[in-house]
Amino acid sequence: MSSGALQPIRGMSDITAPEIFLWQQLESTARKVLSAYGITELRTPIVEQTAVFLRSLGDTTDVVQKEMYRFEDRGGRDLALRPEGTAGIIRHIAGAGQEAQDARVYYIGPMFRAERPAAGRRRQFHQLGVEAMGAASPAADVEMIALQAHLLESWGIRNFVMQVNTRGVGEDHAAVAEGLRDALKPHLSELCEDCQRRFEENPLRIVDCKNPQCREIVSGIPAVTSFMSQESRDYLDEVLQLLQHLEIPAVANPTLVRGLDYYAHTVWEVTHSGLGAQDALSGGGRYALKLGRGAYEGVGFAIGIERIVAVLMGQGIDPATLAQPPRVWLVAQGEAAVLENMILMQSLRLRGISAMMDLRGRSMKAQLRAANKAGCPFVVIRGDQEMEQGTFQLKDMQEGSQTELAMPELLERLLART
Ligand code: HAM
Repeated sequence: MSSGALQPIRGMSDITAPEIFLWQQLESTARKVLSAYGITELRTPIVEQTAVFLRSLGDTTDVVQKEMYRFEDRGGRDLALRPEGTAGIIRHIAGAGQEAQDARVYYIGPMFRAERPAAGRRRQFHQLGVEAMGAASPAADVEMIALQAHLLESWGIRNFVMQVNTRGVGEDHAAVAEGLRDALKPHLSELCEDCQRRFEENPLRIVDCKNPQCREIVSGIPAVTSFMSQESRDYLDEVLQLLQHLEIPAVANPTLVRGLDYYAHTVWEVTHSGLGAQDALSGGGRYALKLGRGAYEGVGFAIGIERIVAVLMGQGIDPATLAQPPRVWLVAQGEAAVLENMILMQSLRLRGISAMMDLRGRSMKAQLRAANKAGCPFVVIRGDQEMEQGTFQLKDMQEGSQTELAMPELLERLLART
């Protein structure tokens, strides 16, 4: 095995302490917030049949055309690592029958996109996403936007910008494509190679192109909303009014189209200036997608956890401060004391008190050094004398005091103080 084989694959990371403490805190805060909205977790597999993604995300999107980890398994099946969470959730709902049609679910887990790795752009990254089926109304869309803002605030993210737009009802999509083609035709030869192909395939994707010259051209043409029906524009107005009513700060951005094809009606994206070029913290919208013989409508969003962590670290959070050292460190002199301390350690742990001890047979001095280094508030010492008398020395590291106690009192004291 080469030394490179000991590293994770490019664009993928091991998430270790101390950063993992921040991830755990984010997850547990989020689970509490989500339960206040009556949303339950759904865990779907990381691998799906490629067909689940092809039609739902749109086969002319970058995610499907360029970024999917697609492979054939030993049985010759065409499979893909999920590039996002919505399609798998809808696959589950489609298979689960009638009672799942009103599902409100969330997921937290890894997603995979074979993009060129850059700051904030990973090949394996993590999303927290929510999908709500059932109600199809501006109020249902606003509920999701409100939840997203609530999550970001509960994590302590400051100064995020919520941008909102519409992709129009499904019937508008052809008119939007036609309007865009008319507006872009005079510039066709100046567009990048990808966009020249997109012009016929799916001109909406040109609006989303990151090429500076394409962006310049797009900024000079009418906004996508100008090609839409009154119904779509009224729907967006209602969403914006409801957001105001709930005092959720959001700005209308008529150029926002999002990178996936399943959206219909409201779309939104949250950006943060602390992130650099990849400045999207999260995005979502209302969608209508077809899977198997059914058509499914829902609204949802996904937040990029790596980017949340990056913003929080930028705001000065130090994950090392979230580490929780064991409450008690047990120190023993001699084999018999080690064995008795193991019993004590187990009974502490069974009572929910975190406890550690040296299991390598090191000297008392080395054990005390380890206890100090771990930063435990209590150290329990069992030397020869204590063994003889059936007692323990309890050192309170914060108070700097030391007390000799028998087992029942020791347990009582530790339970009261932890
Ligand atoms: P998305 O905008 O493709 O939407 O991804 C959502 C978020 O995932 C982004 O805003 C970003 O924070 C994070 N993200 C995406 N790609 C990467 C990457 N390569 N590296 C790091 N972070 C990344 C969706 O995936 C939709 N499924 C959201 C949705 C749910 N819409 C409706 N329901």
